[in-house]
Amino acid sequence: MWLKAFHLIFMVTWFAGLFYLPRLFVYHAMSEDLVSIERFKIMERKLYFGIMTPAMVLTLLFGLWMLADYAWNIYRASGWLRIKLFLIVILVGYHALCAKWLLDFKHDRNIHSDVYYRWMNEIPLLLLIAIILLASVKPF
Ligand code: HEM
Repeated sequence: MWLKAFHLIFMVTWFAGLFYLPRLFVYHAMSEDLVSIERFKIMERKLYFGIMTPAMVLTLLFGLWMLADYAWNIYRASGWLRIKLFLIVILVGYHALCAKWLLDFKHDRNIHSDVYYRWMNEIPLLLLIAIILLASVKPF
């Protein structure tokens, strides 16, 4: 139960960043004055490296710890766990894509519009809904 509690605390922290960072990209892509642009760069860097990435690592560590501790023996044959792990690979890929966007903004070479980032912002939401339903309902 302790492992699950920490798994969920770090997952919520990670998702706060996965939702907020692309919002910063939306406003960053719309900004034209230098002061705002430089401020967004600092906010994005601190959010990504100071909060989101440590939270991701800890979410994954606590998840793997639960698997090693008790869950693999119980759930290894179940479909929900396989699909959940597959979706997590996609989620980690999205996290890495955020790093690419962050570096593009940092070096002033972003080519995407604010509308693009608005759409990209929906990806973590869809993954969150699917993963939570799988992990808590365990439908198959
Ligand atoms: C390597 C990555 C991960 C692994 C190995 C993992 C593994 C696990 C395990 C073994 C459980 C306990 C299942 C049980 O005993 O009922 C669990 C619970 C849970 N996980 Fe993960 N997890 C990972 C990442 C994530 C992520 C990224 C999310 C959210 C998007 C997530 C959401 C949840 C939720 C909501 C529960 C609680 C389910 C419940 O008890 O109702 N997990 N996870």
